[in-house]
Amino acid sequence: MKPLVLTGVLSLLALTLPAAAQERVSVTVDATKPGAKIDRRIFGQFAEHLGSGIYEGVWVGKDSAIPNTRGIRNDVVAALKAIKVPVVRWPGGCFADEYHWRRGIGPERKPMMNANWGGVIEPNTFGTDEFMDFATQVGAEAYISVNVGSGTVGEAAEWLEYMTSSTQDGIGAERARNGHAEPYKVAFVGLGNESWDCGGAMTPDFYVSQMKMYARFVRNYNKAQPMQRIAVGPSGPDTAYTEAVMKSYKGRSWAWDIEGLSLHYYTTGGGFPVSQKATGFGEKEYAVILQDTLKMDELVKTHSAIMDKYDPEKKVSLVVDEWGAWYVATPGTDPGFLMQQNTQRDAVLSALNLNIFARHADRVRMANIAQMVNVLQAMILTDKEKMLLTPTYHVFRMYVPFQDATFIPVTLNAGTYSFGDISLPRVDALAARGTDGKIYLSLTNLDPRTPVDIDVASLNIKVKTATGETLSAAKFDAYNTFSDPETVAPKPVTAKMKDGKVMVRLSPASVTVLTLQP
Ligand code: AHR
Repeated sequence: MKPLVLTGVLSLLALTLPAAAQERVSVTVDATKPGAKIDRRIFGQFAEHLGSGIYEGVWVGKDSAIPNTRGIRNDVVAALKAIKVPVVRWPGGCFADEYHWRRGIGPERKPMMNANWGGVIEPNTFGTDEFMDFATQVGAEAYISVNVGSGTVGEAAEWLEYMTSSTQDGIGAERARNGHAEPYKVAFVGLGNESWDCGGAMTPDFYVSQMKMYARFVRNYNKAQPMQRIAVGPSGPDTAYTEAVMKSYKGRSWAWDIEGLSLHYYTTGGGFPVSQKATGFGEKEYAVILQDTLKMDELVKTHSAIMDKYDPEKKVSLVVDEWGAWYVATPGTDPGFLMQQNTQRDAVLSALNLNIFARHADRVRMANIAQMVNVLQAMILTDKEKMLLTPTYHVFRMYVPFQDATFIPVTLNAGTYSFGDISLPRVDALAARGTDGKIYLSLTNLDPRTPVDIDVASLNIKVKTATGETLSAAKFDAYNTFSDPETVAPKPVTAKMKDGKVMVRLSPASVTVLTLQP
């Protein structure tokens, strides 16, 4: 790779504050020290049988007036393809540990209660074959969570056999009779979900003894697709599962192995039960949520340090397979459906988390935001035939060039954004060399009041053009509605060039991604 150093100087010129209050921030992007590959799977999604996350959000049925392909919404698939969704985790969540896959295959589906989420009837119309069809339509890898809580090792093993074996195998032949002769590709299998809580409230040692059996017997028979096994890991800062699982990993035998350890952390701004509103909040709540979300960095460091102790070669990935904002449900909706709006604050929140995952790309190789459609921090909201893209969706689309890009270290004196006793970095930045060879620079202005004028100076490379997109809004709690779906939408930005420097202004509470081209 051609040696390259980019040095940026961010000068903060507040529009609304007097010149004396303006600060400058310097950024140095050093492409001579490329880091790890930013795995595209950190942009992964999570889709659970919860509320309208699957039914209505993805599945409308073949006879629906809503345009669909084999029952799956065309508009949702097209929107997800545009953000190049790399992987989808399914069917849960807590739902996974009560899911019995045989009820969701073949011509006769057996409904069940969805005891976790609203106590509604789960028709099992959307089952394994429909999920695999959906993943294929989107172009995403499949991440299947098997039932460790209330199922058996045999049930999970047969599920993988159903999905991955050839038609010479009796269960593979059953799949063929259900319409898919080719074995499916299962890239990831989750060995339980939150086994410390909704997945069975297991002690770490009890979980480890279960996990080993699942890791042994839940086999992948499709040689065309290597499969990684993800063990249940920590909840937030609790290190008990991390220690137990990684210790057992170190002492593993020939008979079993794992390739990933999961971490779950939700941004709530005050724990559970959640109390923060998704919309109509003030600056205090804006700051509280961003402060809470930035704890992700410390969590990743804490659990990575334990993993380093047992796995210094970093063979096991830290998989943040549930993350995102969790607020009080939209008034008037079933609280068990976890439906919430998504504002410009959530756009900033998602950029901050994606930047954290990218900075830890040597260990964090997958993350799955919760959840893809209509649930929690969703990409997409639907209302019958209508669909809207959330501010979070727009960040995921703007970040597409970072998929499988090579991390480039950035240093900056970010300055401080303060509200009351909360102090946060004012600016966050991420740089990478894309798979197309171009340098991409993401700049997030956390300050909801003051814009930032940026001058990016470059060494060893003459940047001739710097173009990209910026996502900002008139208010930090602005959001899109079905009647006004473009309230928060990215706009093109072309930076001015002056004396070899790139100059661009960041609006308050905004996310900007630039392509720097020589
Ligand atoms: O994403 C909603 C729920 O949050 C999931 O089902 C569970 O794993 C977590 O507690």
